[in-house]
Amino acid sequence: MSPAPTGGHTTPRSGIAIIGTGSAVPKRRVTNADLEACMDTSDEWIVQRTGIRTRHIHDPQSGESTETLATDAARNALDAAGITADQLDLIVCGTMTPDMPTPSVANLLTASLGARTIPAFDLNAACSGFVYAMNTAHALMTTAPYSTALVLGVDCVTKFCKFSNLDRSSAVLFGDAGGACVLSATNDTSKGLIAQAMHSDGGGAKHLYIPTTTHSFLNPDDTDDGKLNTIVMNGRNVFKFAVSTFPELISQTLDKAGLVPEDIDHYICHQSNARILAAARERFSIPEEKFYINIERYGNTVGASVPLILDQQTRAGRVKPGDRVMFLAFGAGLTWASSLWQV
Ligand code: UT7
Repeated sequence: MSPAPTGGHTTPRSGIAIIGTGSAVPKRRVTNADLEACMDTSDEWIVQRTGIRTRHIHDPQSGESTETLATDAARNALDAAGITADQLDLIVCGTMTPDMPTPSVANLLTASLGARTIPAFDLNAACSGFVYAMNTAHALMTTAPYSTALVLGVDCVTKFCKFSNLDRSSAVLFGDAGGACVLSATNDTSKGLIAQAMHSDGGGAKHLYIPTTTHSFLNPDDTDDGKLNTIVMNGRNVFKFAVSTFPELISQTLDKAGLVPEDIDHYICHQSNARILAAARERFSIPEEKFYINIERYGNTVGASVPLILDQQTRAGRVKPGDRVMFLAFGAGLTWASSLWQV
């Protein structure tokens, strides 16, 4: 691997464009009927409560992992951008499910993609990871000599689901995926971040977490060892938080930008539950064609859900140059974040 050059970069002082997107999902597609066969649930319950019909679940036996999904999504994004990995100056990966505590997924990508010895790191903001990563990459690109960045949201969260009655309320909810985009400095000053917001509240950690040692249980009645390495979720509390937070986040972001809901061309939201998304859309009377929902096919893919939709809508020709795109997410922590771009 060749080292990153110490000179020759220019600090981008103008616009930042999204020049390519990519995504990847595991091969194995699991239906609600498949889940009915291994736990006490039903297609009717899952569809009514969540809107989910299928999800993709990684198969470790065939080598699928957070890193392989990240690599595939990144290669697709680089191809779409028409650049090679050695042209990257920065990699930021939002994930809460790296294959190992260290090294980071982004670090491993420098080798699997063939990048130079550039700065590459993960950040963990749970389902808000990609939105945090976009804001972080933008901030670094406008203040440091990085002209081209790869930003990812990748999660293999089903590593922490048990497909049995022990964990039926979260096992039916989640799927695995990776999404990526390439950011590039441009002389076109109309392109880039218009407004952003990022929040955390550790007071809500007990509503959604993954205990990995017997010391990491956050709820007093939760000390059963069978719950180690398994998502603990109080779905109702997360639901209430999300239903109130999404509209506040949209209002806050619009206020910062001095815009109104109709000024936004695309709302690309974390896919947590079709009912949560519908409530936010109806609150602002946002037309369905501007507010995408793909949870029916992929489930809740944690940090990957926002870049997965970005890639699908970009490839479908719906997200076009000059459009205003609002990314929105919330998740464990609790965390919540937005990132409003003119692309
Ligand atoms: O990315 C952020 C991550 N998390 C979220 O966004 C989750 C947000 N929350 C949710 O989406 C919903 O709370 C869930 C879909 C997780 C659950 O829906 P709910 O309407 O809040 O159901 P509930 O947890 O209040 O459970 C209602 C009933 C219970 O039975 P009883 O006590 O009424 O007899 C549960 O035991 O549904 C039962 N139940 C199930 N039944 C069939 C829970 N999970 C299942 C299941 N299949 N998979």
